[in-house]
Amino acid sequence: MALDPHDFMSKMSDRISFTTADRELLQSSASWGTEIAPDMADHFYTFMGRDEEMNAILNASEGRVHRLRETFVDWFGEMFTGMDNWGHSYADRRWRIGLIHVRIGIGPQHVVPAMAVVVQAVGERLRAEGKSAALQESLSKICMIDLAFIEQAYVEVSAAAVLKETGWTEGLFRRLITSGAGVM
Ligand code: HEM
Repeated sequence: MALDPHDFMSKMSDRISFTTADRELLQSSASWGTEIAPDMADHFYTFMGRDEEMNAILNASEGRVHRLRETFVDWFGEMFTGMDNWGHSYADRRWRIGLIHVRIGIGPQHVVPAMAVVVQAVGERLRAEGKSAALQESLSKICMIDLAFIEQAYVEVSAAAVLKETGWTEGLFRRLITSGAGVM
C-alpha cells in the first residue's frame, strides 16, 4: 500500500490536466508569487488563528507559528517554480509535507478549508491586479495536487498503521472498509 510520490505526482497531473502550458505560466509568474507570498501567509494564519482547534495546534510549541510562516512562504513560491519542473524533488517534498501533517494529527477537516482559503485569497489578489484567468486556473490546479498529497498521506499512513498492527491483508482491510461504510 506504500505510495510512490513520483507516480502519484504524474497520476494527479494527468487527472487534473496540469499541462505544460500551466507549468510555463506559473514559472513566468514566479517573481509575482514570491512577492505576494508573505501576504498569502498572513491570510492563511489569520484564518487558522480564528479557529480554536487549529489555533491551539499552531501555538502548541514555542516558535511554531514563526517557523510555519517561513515554510508557508517557501511552499507558496515552490508552486510557481515547480522546484525541478514538478519532478521528483517536488513530489518528495509534497509527500513529506503530507507526512508531517499526519504526524501532528492534522486531518482533512483542517487541511481542506485551509487550502480553500489559499485558493480564495490568491484569486482575490489575481483579480485585484488584473492577472489572467488562465493563471488562476493553473494555480488552482497545483493547489489541488498539493492538497491531494496531504490527504492521501493521511489515508496511506492510517492504512499502513492498521495493517502493521493487525497483520491483516490489504484485501481484508479493504473489505472491512467497504462493509463498514455500508452500515454507517
Ligand atoms: C493548505 C494547507 C497547508 C499547507 C500548504 C501547509 C504547509 C506546511 C508546510 C510547508 C510545513 C513545513 C513542513 C516541513 O517542515 O517540511 C507545514 C508544517 C506544519 N503545519 Fe501546515 N500546512 C497546511 C495546513 C495546515 C493546517 C490546517 C494546520 C493546522 C493547524 C497546519 C499546521 C502545521 C504544523 C503544526 C506544522 C509543523 C510545524 C513545526 O512545528 O515545525 N498546517 N505546513
